Amino acid sequence: MRWATTRTLVGVASTVSVLLLPARSVKLLLYLDQNYLSGIAKRKPAFRELEAALREALARGTVAVVESAVHERESQPRPDLGLLELLRELSGGRRLPRELDAAALETRRRLAATIERELPERRARGSDAADLDAMAIAVHHCDLVTCDAFMADVIRRTRLDLRHSAELFTGRRADVLRLRDRLRDEYVLDTPVVRGFIRAAREAFAAAASPADACDAIRPRFAQLLADPGWLPRRFQEPAPESGMGGGIGQWLLFRAADRSLSLFSLVVPPGSATPIHDHLAWGLVGLYRGTQDEEIYAERDGHVEPVERRSLARGDFYVLLPPRDDVHRVRTTSPETSVSIHLLTNDTGCVWRHSYDERSGRPAPFRSGYVNVACEA
Ligand SMILES: [Fe+2]
Repeated sequence: MRWATTRTLVGVASTVSVLLLPARSVKLLLYLDQNYLSGIAKRKPAFRELEAALREALARGTVAVVESAVHERESQPRPDLGLLELLRELSGGRRLPRELDAAALETRRRLAATIERELPERRARGSDAADLDAMAIAVHHCDLVTCDAFMADVIRRTRLDLRHSAELFTGRRADVLRLRDRLRDEYVLDTPVVRGFIRAAREAFAAAASPADACDAIRPRFAQLLADPGWLPRRFQEPAPESGMGGGIGQWLLFRAADRSLSLFSLVVPPGSATPIHDHLAWGLVGLYRGTQDEEIYAERDGHVEPVERRSLARGDFYVLLPPRDDVHRVRTTSPETSVSIHLLTNDTGCVWRHSYDERSGRPAPFRSGYVNVACEA
C-alpha cells in the first residue's frame, strides 16, 4: 500500500490545515514524443540506456507512459516503424484525454502566441499544429515531457513548465541521459547501509496498513541508523553558509526515490542557529544523530500558527511526523557542537514548495529549502 502527500503548493491561504491528500499513487507520468519513440525503436546508443532505465521504472511502478491522439496522427505516414506498437507496449493503454479542454486550449493559444511574438523569424513547419496539440495536453497532465528543442524553448518562455511542474527533455543526448537518470532512484550517498535502510523502509511501508503503522514498523531500523556512528561521512554533517534555510543550516540529500515519494537527508544546524518555523507536508521519521536540539511545535489557529509544545532532543531521540498533527515546528541547536538530524520523509522535502511561518504573525509563506548538494528540477 502507498500513500502520498501534496507535491506542489496549492495556495498559501488554504494550506495550513489541508496537508495530507487521500491515498493515491504518485507515479510519474511520462510523455514520449515521436523522436524518443523512434530513438528507442532504432536502439540508438543513448536511447538504449534510457530504455533499460525506463523498463526498470515501469516494472517498479514508479513511472507510467501515456499515449495521446497526436501519436496516432504522427505515426500514420510511417506505420512500418512500429512506433504505435512500441508505445502501446510501454503505456499498457494508458491515455491522455483525446480532446483539448479549456485549460489545454488556453495553453495552446499561449504557446502559439509566444512563437508568433518572440520567434517571428522561425519558418512554420507542417508538424507545428500536432506539436502544439501534444504539448498543450502533456504539460498539464505529465510530470516528464519529451519534445524537440524548439518546443522546449517555447514552453520555457511561457513558464508553463514551472507552473505545471512538468520537466522537459529535448532529443539532445545530454537530455536523453538526464531522463535516464531521472527514472532511477538517486543514491547520493550510495553505501550498503543506506541501500539496506531504504530497502527495509520500503518493505515496511509496503506491508503497513497506515502511515502510523509504517512509521512504527521502521522504528527499530531508524534507531539503529541513529546509533551507528560510522555510516554518515563528514561532508554530510557540515553547515552551509549560503543555504535556503538561513543561519548556515545545511540540508544534505542522501537518497530520493525516482518518483519523489521518499527521501532521506541530514539537517545540519550550527550551535545557536534555529530553522525558520516550517512544515514538511509529508509523514515520516526525524531523529537526532549528533548534538542536542530544542524543538518547538506549532498548531494552526485561524489561518496562523501558535507554539503549543517544546521538547528537548538528545542523540538517538526521534519522533514521528504524521501531518497535519505536529507538522509545523522549529528546531534550535542547544549543544556547543553542530547538531545533525536525520529525516526519512515521504516526499522530496528539499524541493517541494511548502511553508515557512512568520515568527510574529504566525502566517504562512511559500518556502522551498532546497538541498546543499543537489539541485531541484524546476
Ligand atoms: Fe523540520
